[in-house]
Amino acid sequence: MGNNYYVLITGASKGIGRALAIECAKRGMNLALISLPGENLEELSAELTIKYRIKSSYKTLNLTDSKAPEIIHNWCIENKLEVNTLINNAGFGCVGRFENQSSGFYMQMIDLNVNSVVLLTRLFLPELKKNSPSYILNLGSIASFYPMPYKTVYSATKIFVYSFSRALREELRPFNISISILCPGPVITNSDVITRTLQQGKIGKWSALSPKRVAAIAIKRMLRKRFIIIPGLLSKVSFYIEKIIPMSLKQRLTARIFIKSSK
Ligand SMILES: NC(=O)c1ccc[n+]([C@@H]2O[C@H](COP(=O)([O-])OP(=O)(O)OC[C@H]3O[C@@H](n4cnc5c(N)ncnc54)[C@H](OP(=O)(O)O)[C@@H]3O)[C@@H](O)[C@H]2O)c1
Repeated sequence: MGNNYYVLITGASKGIGRALAIECAKRGMNLALISLPGENLEELSAELTIKYRIKSSYKTLNLTDSKAPEIIHNWCIENKLEVNTLINNAGFGCVGRFENQSSGFYMQMIDLNVNSVVLLTRLFLPELKKNSPSYILNLGSIASFYPMPYKTVYSATKIFVYSFSRALREELRPFNISISILCPGPVITNSDVITRTLQQGKIGKWSALSPKRVAAIAIKRMLRKRFIIIPGLLSKVSFYIEKIIPMSLKQRLTARIFIKSSK
């Protein structure tokens, strides 16, 4: 990968995004990092610049702000950050009854998990075309594969990301831009995930992975232009088993697992 190009990563201050930033830096990729303000992104950017002798810039802003994608795009142009890899990582979810969260909460989730992904992809398309071979890595989840009770809006946003990525992959093939979707099971990032994983007992514990492991697999397979990236044997096995289980049974089983986290 040419050393003048940058990988733009949203949600880079912690969790999977931070691990993806470290993995890219290790591979000599220059970084353009995005997260909310006040999360030590400056320190991470400086540390990776020195440790891996790369170039790194950062910008803090709220991606649910409708102008944020344009602000990020202009920032890259003004600072001559030539992006050839876009990683749409920032996102959040929740488990529980649909009625437990406010409409404002769901609007934020859709703004972050769906709108920012579409808008950043659209805005950076000219650069990705110009700087090809280029890569887009979108964050899906195992919730991308079927509608999940008690994760209703989250799984709908991740199904959107899957559908969007799958369709756009074909459109962008002639331009040498590869789109991949990373679909991990539980990854030990924030306290929410840790609590939920523990509530799921042994299966949760066995399938949980570290962000470092997920990031190493993701970047390797993204560069090999794979479409669906499912890290971890158990998640991969459940992906294939899930395909042969009827939808109604799948939903009842999923509801039984997640209802525990909803009380
Ligand atoms: N963890 C899992 O088990 C799991 C499994 C499957 C898929 N995923 C997906 O993986 C992605 C990352 O998840 P994670 O667990 O690593 O999350 P995380 O640890 O909570 O980190 C989320 C990152 O996104 C940033 N972010 C959140 N809201 C933002 C906003 N409005 N504007 C800008 N940045 C924002 C956060 O910035 P601040 O640090 O500034 O808050 C943080 O850097 C998400 O899309 C998630 O759906 C996670």
